[in-house]
This record gives sequence, structure tokens and C-alpha cells, in this order.
Amino acid sequence: MALIPIITIPDPVLRKVSKPVPEVTDGVLQLLADMAETMYNAPGIGLAAPQVSINHRLIVMDCGKDEDSRLLKMINPEIVRRSEELAVLEEGCLSIPDQTADVERPAFVEVKYIDIFGEEQYLRCEGLLAACVQHEVDHLDGVLFIDHISRLKRDMIVRRFMKEMRQSTGGAPRGR
Ligand code: NI
Repeated sequence: MALIPIITIPDPVLRKVSKPVPEVTDGVLQLLADMAETMYNAPGIGLAAPQVSINHRLIVMDCGKDEDSRLLKMINPEIVRRSEELAVLEEGCLSIPDQTADVERPAFVEVKYIDIFGEEQYLRCEGLLAACVQHEVDHLDGVLFIDHISRLKRDMIVRRFMKEMRQSTGGAPRGR
């Protein structure tokens, strides 16, 4: 197991559409294990492969606290159902450290994915897990949580992040 550096905005890798994973190889399983270790170490509740510079459709999540507290490793996840009902939750992202915003998304979703044994799975998600899985699947399409808020708030967050990054590290992006 190994920690992998997490990239931050404005790294262009975060804006690419990631490729599906054709086969569950040992390399894929190792990467998922490393991503989980990296997520817990950060600490965070979700991590997508593009955040560790790999444009493949892989995510890990552990939303903690309630009955959803378990490590989920998903290969080629796809949101197949979304509720009309919406919910607002505060979100942050390891690729935009220390910045948060209220984001409105479908309150309930169903996600289809391949598990580490190569089996197709369906999972219904609500609450924090629903927001988290939508946030992580967004990463696979080059979408960030700041894309779901007003331009004004987005510009404010990006400006604040870039300023804090310059002040804390003298210009080098954090987390690398
Ligand atoms: Ni994120």
C-alpha cells in the first residue's frame, strides 16, 4: 500500500473525461487499495482516480458515521437513477482543499458499478452517500462541485483557494 499525491485545481487532469476500466486486474485492485489509503490519510470521504492523476473510472468512498460507514470501491460507476427530489449539502473536495459550498443535487440516486470481484452491483444511496457518489462520479467526467454553484461563488472559491495556496506554500500546489 502506498499514498499517492493528490492534485489540486487548476491541474488540467481534473478536467478530463476518464476512460472506462476494461478489466479488473491486479493493478486496478492495487490502485483502489492505494486510493483508499490516500483518502483515509487526507482525510476525506471520497476520492476519484483523476485526483491522483489517473484518468480511469475508479472511485473509493467511506461516508462514515452512520449505516453507510463502509469502504466502497467502485469500478466504472454510473448513476442510473436520480430522484426528482433535491437536497442541499455542504461539499468540499480534496482537490480544492479547505473550501466548501452548499450544493444542490438529487436526494436519492442508484449507482451501477463493477466491484473488486468483477461483479456488477447496484446500490441505492441517500443522504451524504448520495451526494458523495454524485460528487465522485462527476470527477470522472471532469466536473467539480464548484461547477454546481453560481459563477460568483465559484470565482470567489477559486480566488480564495489560489491565494491561500500561494501564501501557504510560496506558489507550489498543495498536496503534490
Ligand atoms: Ni472531490
